[in-house]
Amino acid sequence: VLVYDRLVAPELVDEAPEDALRIAREPLEQEQINELLVGYGRAGLDVVRLKGGDPYVFGRGGEEALALAAARVEFEVIAGVSSLTAVPAAAGIPLTHRGLASQATIVTGHDAPLDYAALAQPAGTLVVFMGLGRLAEIAAGLLANGRDPATPAAVIASGTTDRQAVVTAPLAEITAAAAELESPALIVVGDVVGLAGTLEAAKPKSTLTITS
Ligand SMILES: C[S@@+](CC[C@H](N)C(=O)[O-])C[C@H]1O[C@@H](n2cnc3c(N)ncnc32)[C@H](O)[C@@H]1O
Repeated sequence: VLVYDRLVAPELVDEAPEDALRIAREPLEQEQINELLVGYGRAGLDVVRLKGGDPYVFGRGGEEALALAAARVEFEVIAGVSSLTAVPAAAGIPLTHRGLASQATIVTGHDAPLDYAALAQPAGTLVVFMGLGRLAEIAAGLLANGRDPATPAAVIASGTTDRQAVVTAPLAEITAAAAELESPALIVVGDVVGLAGTLEAAKPKSTLTITS
């Protein structure tokens, strides 16, 4: 049984054996997924739950693992490379860099209210998952709480794929600059974004890069 998410590479889904039962996660509620995993696991089938990146990074992998543990179904987690690190790297942005950022803060823009007073502190790099739809609010929240309007910011959409699009701009201009981008996207704010131009220029160009 293969239960897979929308963001996983289709090539990986194609690697499942022909007689595998393939179940797309998207129409299902989280509770239904948990029940499926527990049910097929208890039935003794080989079950693969295929997610993008690291299942324990904003992937609800922890919820599914807890359901399996509660049902005493054995499982193993094999983490892939999270977009947290792979996507900024593909855009020429080191998350940390000596002298520029010695810490990184990771938040989801999906549902939870964000503590802009805390996030506006200039220490380190800020990475926002699932925040593209709230980009204007996020930028305004950071600026209203004192973040320098000139702070380098980036939005990276479909990072590492052949549709990768990267927009970099000062924080005060990032919303307008990234208006055309579509999810999935990561927002990165901090001085490390300022390295992107130099690091991108040093590698072969195969992606769309807009800088304003
Ligand atoms: C539900 S989270 C899953 C994250 C995943 N577990 C990981 O470790 O990368 C989905 C969000 O991750 C980010 N994301 C995943 N793949 C991405 C990509 N190729 N480019 C940009 N952002 C990506 C986006 O913020 C997207 O909305």
